[in-house]
Amino acid sequence: MPFLVLSNVSKSFGPPEARTEVLRDVSLTVEKGEFVAIVGYSGAGKTTLLNMVSGLLRPDSGSVTLNDLEITGPGPDRGVVFQNYSLLPWMTVAENIALAVDQLFPNWSASKRAQHVDHHIAMVNLSHARDRRPSELSGGMRQRVSVARALAMEPQILLLDEPLGALDALTRATLQDEISRICLESGKTVLLITNDPDEGILMADRIIPLSAGPGAILGPAIAVDLARPRDRKALNHDPRFKSLRSQIVSWLLGPGGRPAVSVSRKLVLPDIEPEDLDQPRPMIGGRRAPRRRSEERRETVELPS
Ligand SMILES: Nc1ncnc2c1ncn2[C@@H]1O[C@H](COP(=O)(O)OP(=O)(O)O)[C@@H](O)[C@H]1O
Ligand SMILES: [Mg+2]
Repeated sequence: MPFLVLSNVSKSFGPPEARTEVLRDVSLTVEKGEFVAIVGYSGAGKTTLLNMVSGLLRPDSGSVTLNDLEITGPGPDRGVVFQNYSLLPWMTVAENIALAVDQLFPNWSASKRAQHVDHHIAMVNLSHARDRRPSELSGGMRQRVSVARALAMEPQILLLDEPLGALDALTRATLQDEISRICLESGKTVLLITNDPDEGILMADRIIPLSAGPGAILGPAIAVDLARPRDRKALNHDPRFKSLRSQIVSWLLGPGGRPAVSVSRKLVLPDIEPEDLDQPRPMIGGRRAPRRRSEERRETVELPS
C-alpha cells in the first residue's frame, strides 16, 4: 500500500491579480521504507512541495495523504530537517533533543527519555559535544543535531529539505554517508529534497526530477539500482552511476525540465520607416512634420522568460 501520496497537487502564491503558480498538478507516491529524492532547480518549488507534506502549507487543489489520512497540519509523525539550522541557540545539543522527546513521550520515565536522547546523540557521532550550544558547533554538527532530533521523535517519515546545502563539500560528503547509513539501519521512510543529482544518486532508492518553475512539474521517476552501502569513490567510475546522472541531468536541462515558457509584452517600437513621399506632408504645431504613417508601432512579441 502506498504510504505517502500526493495526488494532483497544485500551489500558487500571491494576490489574485498577480498570482504565480509554483507547482502544477504534482503527483507522487512513496512506499514505506523507501528513500526518495526530489532533485530540482533553486526556486523551483521544492520547499513548497515539502511544506505541504510537513503540513506547514495546504495545497490549493489536490490532496496529500500519509497512511491514507489527509495531512492538514504539522504532526510528530513527520520529522523535518530544515535547510537552515533550526536549533534553539540557548540550549545544549542534549537539551535541544530532550525538548522534543519530553514533549512527545511524557509517559516515559525520566531515565528512559535521557537514554533515548543519548542514544540519538551517539547515532550521529556527537556524544563528545552533547553539552555544547549551537554557537559552539560547526554547520555540519548542527545539521547532525537536527537529524538526531528529528529521528528521536520516532517519526513515520523523515523529511529532509536540502539539509546539507549550506555545508562545504567535504563535510557534505561525510554527512551524506552518515545519513545514508542511519536511514538504512533504521529502515525509515525518507523524502529528501536536494539540488544535487549526485547526492540523490548516492543516497536514494528513487529519484524524481522537478522542473524549473513557474508551474513546476515532476519528471519520470528514476530507480537507483546501485547496491548499498554505496562507496562514493567507486561510484565515480561506475558506468551505471554515470548513466543515472546523465538521465537526471538531461531531463532537467531538456524541454521537460525547462519548459519553454514565453510571455507576451507590448513594446512601443520607434518608427524607422523612410518618409513616404506620396503622402501629403502634415502640419503639426505650425511646422511640417515628416511624412510618416505613424510615429510609433505597437507589437506583441514573444520573449523567453
Ligand atoms: N509564502 C510564499 N509567498 C510567496 N511566494 C512564495 C512563498 N513561498 C515560496 N514562494 C515562491 O515560490 C517559489 C518556490 O519557492 P521554494 O519552494 O522555496 O523553492 P525551492 O525550495 O525549490 O528553492 C519561489 O519563486 C518563491 O519565491
Ligand atoms: Mg528550498
